[in-house]
Amino acid sequence: MEYPYEVPRPEKQFAAVFDTNKCIACQTCTVACKNTWTAGRGQEYMFWNNVETKPFGSYPLAWDFKLLQKIGGGSWRGNVYTGKTIFEKAREEGHENAVGIFPELEDWAYPNIGEDEIFGGEVEQGMHINSLPHMMWFYYLARICNHCTYPGCASRCPRKAIYKRQEDGIVLIDQKRCHGYKQCNEGCPYKKAMFNAHTGRSEKCLGCYPKVEKGLTTQCMEACIGKIRMQGWLNTPENAEEDNPLDYLVHVRKLALPLYPQFGTEPNIYYIPPINVPVPFLKQMFGPRVEKAVLNYREALRHDKVLQGLITLFGSSPQIISRFKMNNDKTYGYNDKGTQVATVPIQEPKHIRKPFDKNLEVYRTDIT
Ligand code: SF4
Ligand code: SF4
Ligand code: SF4
Ligand code: F3S
Repeated sequence: MEYPYEVPRPEKQFAAVFDTNKCIACQTCTVACKNTWTAGRGQEYMFWNNVETKPFGSYPLAWDFKLLQKIGGGSWRGNVYTGKTIFEKAREEGHENAVGIFPELEDWAYPNIGEDEIFGGEVEQGMHINSLPHMMWFYYLARICNHCTYPGCASRCPRKAIYKRQEDGIVLIDQKRCHGYKQCNEGCPYKKAMFNAHTGRSEKCLGCYPKVEKGLTTQCMEACIGKIRMQGWLNTPENAEEDNPLDYLVHVRKLALPLYPQFGTEPNIYYIPPINVPVPFLKQMFGPRVEKAVLNYREALRHDKVLQGLITLFGSSPQIISRFKMNNDKTYGYNDKGTQVATVPIQEPKHIRKPFDKNLEVYRTDIT
């Protein structure tokens, strides 16, 4: 892996694991971010947090497909990536620090339109659909800036206006230094640096740093209805700690994987892959370790108490959980100061309701 300049590792790295199996595409995260950070002029089209439906959804249009094509599709030998990253491809072509795509305005304009439609047209009442235009699976992919270890956005900025904070690894654009060259928009492989035509500068997800500085989770993490997100601090593999929830999920159990590792930026948002999706599709999105990760997750749901407990800890506190412990039936989460901030049962209790409600004198029938 080559990066155009030296990037020291931060003291701590802002990171998160998203469990795609739990996302219901309610877009609460999207709205939480929008209301907090991008409700101003020039920001109308911006969703620093977005949730797209794979395989056909994308914001902006075809962002991932186009970049994969540009770097030559990518190739693997076993678990080793043998294709070109965005930085290596640029060097091969002898131009910018990182290759990228620059979306048209129109490409940002219709997030989520038609992404979940199975048929591609109107479905009449009582209609029988003999064959579908695509396979019968999809899943929801929530995306924010990855606060990459090797940020593609920063590598392209001629003003050096983009920097990675030493204290937490959050990547920010200095609005005073930015002169609106838009190179970062092209250099970010995940399309998370966006141009504001009103201010003439670019903007991006701030990792909700004012909250993070107080030990709190970000707006999009806290608001998540599906409790699919676990925010925390990620160590390098050689410094992994077993009682750190993110280290455990990413390095120890290898259950959570980076999105498009082929791009070469070492993204810090990790995903537990969806278990209902064909492996060949998942491989080009999360790399070859995905098959094992899916098996581990299936196994965990049946037998693995530690993983079961950890997964129920997701979204259980508005404070950042940096340690966890378990006993026979509960999981406990602790913040940076060692204070217990969450307690959850390993198995959610089941409540079976009687069909007839005597108080209201109604029958409730489960029709699913
Ligand atoms: Fe920069 Fe994009 Fe990485 Fe965010 S996801 S740090 S905007 S390269
Ligand atoms: Fe928005 Fe904060 Fe989430 Fe970034 S971390 S997408 S700024 S809510
Ligand atoms: Fe998915 Fe959570 Fe966002 Fe809802 S709030 S769309 S469950 S990530
Ligand atoms: Fe640099 Fe992007 Fe601004 S390239 S000057 S941060 S628009």
